[in-house]
Amino acid sequence: MPALLGTTQGLDDYATSLCDLLESPLVRQITGGIHVNDALIQNAWDALPQEWTRWWSSLPDHRRAQHHLIDSIDDTHDSFTPEPLVGIPPDSLTKWLEQLRSASLPRAQRAGPSIDLPSELTAQMNTKKIAEVSVAAAFIQDACTERNITRVIDIGSGQGYLSVTLAYLFPQLRVLAIDGSKSQIAASRSFAETLGVPEDKLNHLVRYVDRKTPALAEEMTIWADGQKCILVGLHACGQLSEHMLRYFTQLPFVDSLAAVGCCYNHIVPRSPECPDGFPISARLRSRHVTLSATALMTGCQAPNNWERTDLCSPDDSAFSNRRLYRAILEKLLHDKQIDISAKSRTPWGIRKGDTVSFVKFARRAMYSLGIEEDAVSDEDLIEYDEKYRDCKGQIAILWTLSVLCCKLVESVIALDRYCYLVEQGAREVDVVPIFDYRVSPRNLMMVARKDAV
Ligand SMILES: C[S@@+](CC[C@H](N)C(=O)[O-])C[C@H]1O[C@@H](n2cnc3c(N)ncnc32)[C@H](O)[C@@H]1O
Repeated sequence: MPALLGTTQGLDDYATSLCDLLESPLVRQITGGIHVNDALIQNAWDALPQEWTRWWSSLPDHRRAQHHLIDSIDDTHDSFTPEPLVGIPPDSLTKWLEQLRSASLPRAQRAGPSIDLPSELTAQMNTKKIAEVSVAAAFIQDACTERNITRVIDIGSGQGYLSVTLAYLFPQLRVLAIDGSKSQIAASRSFAETLGVPEDKLNHLVRYVDRKTPALAEEMTIWADGQKCILVGLHACGQLSEHMLRYFTQLPFVDSLAAVGCCYNHIVPRSPECPDGFPISARLRSRHVTLSATALMTGCQAPNNWERTDLCSPDDSAFSNRRLYRAILEKLLHDKQIDISAKSRTPWGIRKGDTVSFVKFARRAMYSLGIEEDAVSDEDLIEYDEKYRDCKGQIAILWTLSVLCCKLVESVIALDRYCYLVEQGAREVDVVPIFDYRVSPRNLMMVARKDAV
């Protein structure tokens, strides 16, 4: 049985412990059972283990608890010294955090090749993209050399940072860049033209990739012209990664796969209307694994990238105010039976300046949501602010807990993709933390090979 990277357990044991933890009532609650925005409506704080909440409440500053939680599952800082805490965390919390950490796939960047990109390529990219393309292009080039591959199909190629780099730097490679967006492909074409990359080295195709495009399989087959190909994707959003995995297993001329996913909130759960949806592997389907929309959203977070707040400064961050105010306003609207369920629950039109006070925040949000101003009086707003403002620490900790489960959610998605590839007979399947997690939190690359014919 293949062992997932970094885990000493076999696949069976790993899958069981990860799914068990995901399905535990506490993780279910944190990853979507109760959304943090509904925390005051549903008493989310009281639904947590009492000895945890008692301990957190005993700390002089909730930010200590947040630091402790985030640091407990961080595997990307070698020489990190945690903030000194006041008191010792309850055993059950320490054990739970350890479970979370050991069930999450390792994220510390694996050592591998990197290319120094020339300035004519980097001029168009930001620092994050330069770091990603330097490593991804080197990885793909090595895979091509090792497997005698001369053709690369880049799916979800966007503005062409990766495809143009490959075509520009490696004379032996031909690249096909596919993206569903006309404007992205136009930008990629113009990037290639600026560098003098000819069309016969880099072809472009505007195609929206889904399960219902057999024509695309044919187009790729014609383009491959009987040569072995590697299928690559740099941050192939949501289900696009799943479609890539299917193309990899089904197209006989595709030899290798190197795909980094992102935007898990765009993953479509399996249903009668979408039988191809998540999970895609027989193993996770047989366990009836599900991820709610909130859990998928949770998977898009980046816990270790949170800026460490200065514990000596007063806690007036716009971020934590926004979380608290949102929860208070949800509670107020709920109590007053003002229905906002049909309205958007995310944007709310809030700007940074609106978080200076709850009244300002609430008025702005109500305006954006189309709620009449006189539906809630200033007195009501002031009353709710006074009643719940002390919950700021609770909301901050609840939010941190939900973000903490990000690595778990991402691990389940990666496990599903890993199992699918293994079930389809792929070889050398791996989940490689290819980028520096602190720069690129979506750093897991699915890698696989099969014998192309
Ligand atoms: C996050 S961007 C990554 C772009 C590029 N690979 C990069 O790293 O710069 C994802 C790209 O995938 C494209 N995309 C998303 N879903 C798609 C689909 N189903 N079919 C084709 N393209 C898709 C988007 O238009 C977008 O350009």
